[in-house]
Amino acid sequence: MKQFRDRSAVITGAASGIGLELARRAAAEGMNLVLADIEHDKLEAAAATLNLPAARLLLQKTDVSREDEVAALADAAFARFGGVHLLCNNAGVGLTRVSWELTTADWNWVLGVDLWSVIHGVQHFVPRMLKQAEGGHVVNTSSVAGLLSTPGMAAYNVAKHGVVTLSETLYGELLAAKARIGVSLLCPAWVPTAIHESGRNRQQRFGEVKPAEGLSASYEQRMASAVKSGRLTAADMANEVFAAVAEDRFYVIPHRKINHAIQLRMDDIMQLRNPTQLA
Ligand SMILES: NC(=O)c1ccc[n+]([C@@H]2O[C@H](COP(=O)([O-])OP(=O)(O)OC[C@H]3O[C@@H](n4cnc5c(N)ncnc54)[C@H](O)[C@@H]3O)[C@@H](O)[C@H]2O)c1
Repeated sequence: MKQFRDRSAVITGAASGIGLELARRAAAEGMNLVLADIEHDKLEAAAATLNLPAARLLLQKTDVSREDEVAALADAAFARFGGVHLLCNNAGVGLTRVSWELTTADWNWVLGVDLWSVIHGVQHFVPRMLKQAEGGHVVNTSSVAGLLSTPGMAAYNVAKHGVVTLSETLYGELLAAKARIGVSLLCPAWVPTAIHESGRNRQQRFGEVKPAEGLSASYEQRMASAVKSGRLTAADMANEVFAAVAEDRFYVIPHRKINHAIQLRMDDIMQLRNPTQLA
């Protein structure tokens, strides 16, 4: 996708972190913005910092785990701007627990926000994007967790692996369909955002999260300090994404130091070796 100016972008999870920086970059590129988040007050405050004229901005409170709300977001975006050229399925939550302590509600929450959201995005946006003469681009935010199997994050890992294979499959299908829609897959490692405080957005229907104890607590602390100490910023992620979209590049893996871990996992598989555990 070469032209951003006067095209329209839909960004989920835009009130904070990577989503907000994607929005900032899209605004700087001269795009119309449809910003969605479950935290509407925070979204309004964040959007105000973009200094966009009202005619170029639509804010929509959306719980991306709910199909009806993603469908309503698509309806609103196409009705307001007549097209969606850049779809960023970015909203996500994290939960750190050993697998045997994850409840069904925990799984439903994480899979709902991190995986079903992207599935619903594909269902409700792509068919309409296919009808646009201008084409478009889909950016799915996964994680290096979608390429590895780091202990303590089973639900997150499963969701993010799902986003990887969904995106790779979608890429192949769009190519086979000769569609003018590109796909990029963002897989960051640690980025200082509010992801380690995801519990703030846990919807009532998923119940309360129980405090972590023992091994789960130590994984939780390790995850929070890794997020806070991340060297690359959310703005770096947005720059990487826009470069990839402009080049029509699929894999966006900004933390190159993680390559050895990805390679190690591939080697374990190819050599039928038990999964190597990194410190
Ligand atoms: N920060 C990292 O280290 C990191 C690493 C890899 C991948 N990611 C991914 O990046 C994406 C953005 O996360 P972030 O790091 O910017 O975190 P963040 O918490 O700063 O932002 C996530 C946003 O998603 C919103 N959100 C949560 N649940 C929602 C729901 N049900 N419906 C709609 N919006 C919802 C939150 O309100 C928030 O604004 C996520 O998909 C996350 O998994 C983050």
